[in-house]
Amino acid sequence: MLTADNIADYINQAIADIHYPAAPAGLYQPVKYTLEGGGKRLRPMLLLAACDAVSGDCSAALNQALAIEIFHNFTLLHDDVMDNADLRRGRPTVHCRWDNNTAILSGDAMLTMATQYLCKDAGDKTGQILDIFNTTAMEIYEGQQYDMDFERMKTVSVDEYLMMIRLKTSVLLGCACRIGAVMGNAPDYLCDLLYDYGVKLGLAFQLRDDYLDAYGDPLTFGKEIGGDIVNNKKTWLLINALNEDTTGRLEKAIEQSLSRGNKIAEVKAVFEDLDLPRRCVELINKYVADAVEIIRESPLGDDAKDFFINLALSTIERTN
Ligand code: IPE
Ligand code: IPE
Ligand code: MG
Ligand code: MG
Ligand code: MG
Repeated sequence: MLTADNIADYINQAIADIHYPAAPAGLYQPVKYTLEGGGKRLRPMLLLAACDAVSGDCSAALNQALAIEIFHNFTLLHDDVMDNADLRRGRPTVHCRWDNNTAILSGDAMLTMATQYLCKDAGDKTGQILDIFNTTAMEIYEGQQYDMDFERMKTVSVDEYLMMIRLKTSVLLGCACRIGAVMGNAPDYLCDLLYDYGVKLGLAFQLRDDYLDAYGDPLTFGKEIGGDIVNNKKTWLLINALNEDTTGRLEKAIEQSLSRGNKIAEVKAVFEDLDLPRRCVELINKYVADAVEIIRESPLGDDAKDFFINLALSTIERTN
């Protein structure tokens, strides 16, 4: 079984080797800027690790791993327009460095590149992995729509929030695991098991993302802190604060037209009064524990188990 570092190097090399047409530069430069701009490479890592875990060889799934990473980056280009975010991976977002039209069209190009890589050398698996990929992509768009709808809703339940993050984030981690397992010729029950692991991990992963959006270090997180608060994103922190704050302080912070800095400080003070940061970490731990349990009870080999368990545990403490 490869290590996480080996897999990340393998993916980064393959991304550096991607050839882009020279023209039109306005289309391809932002794609290259995005793909070579770093990132944790979590989804292709899951895909290759799943393939390796079930077949002992991940090289046959490299194109599909690239496909999932390119697709993920496409969603980020459009997400940054939707979220009005200026910073990603410590650099200006594409719509800030170029403009919205560039982010839309370069994003479109990445979606098509993703499909091309997905089908490349996939042989008789092509139809099956396209189905998995397309189902997941539609779910992500649904999740992104709920995410935007929720910004304008006064109240959202925790169950609705969990449904939304499952769609916008978790299913892609599950999909990466499933496609890797399919490429490695795993039996259906193992494909399902790895998918379930990815989904549980994804819930923890998005909860941690929401936590870091309020409490991360901008230098390591690479995104602007407080963006979710400014946008009234119905994160787990805000939903619970809306339910539990009886002082009227939160409502005021949301209704009044405070400066960005004051609004973030006010809302975070309410989170802290209600002990929500600690409780959020507790919930992250619970989903990580669920993911770990799925792997522990699986028939995977010890090395593969260690890999997936350590990856899940690293989500608890991740800072970027
Ligand atoms: C960001 O994903 C979008 C979320 C689902 C939270 P990542 O945190 O995996 O972003 P990169 O690829 O490492 O930059
Ligand atoms: C993004 O969620 C999920 C997708 C891109 C589909 P966020 O909006 O929380 O992701 P970041 O924080 O901008 O990376
Ligand atoms: Mg978003
Ligand atoms: Mg965003
Ligand atoms: Mg976020």
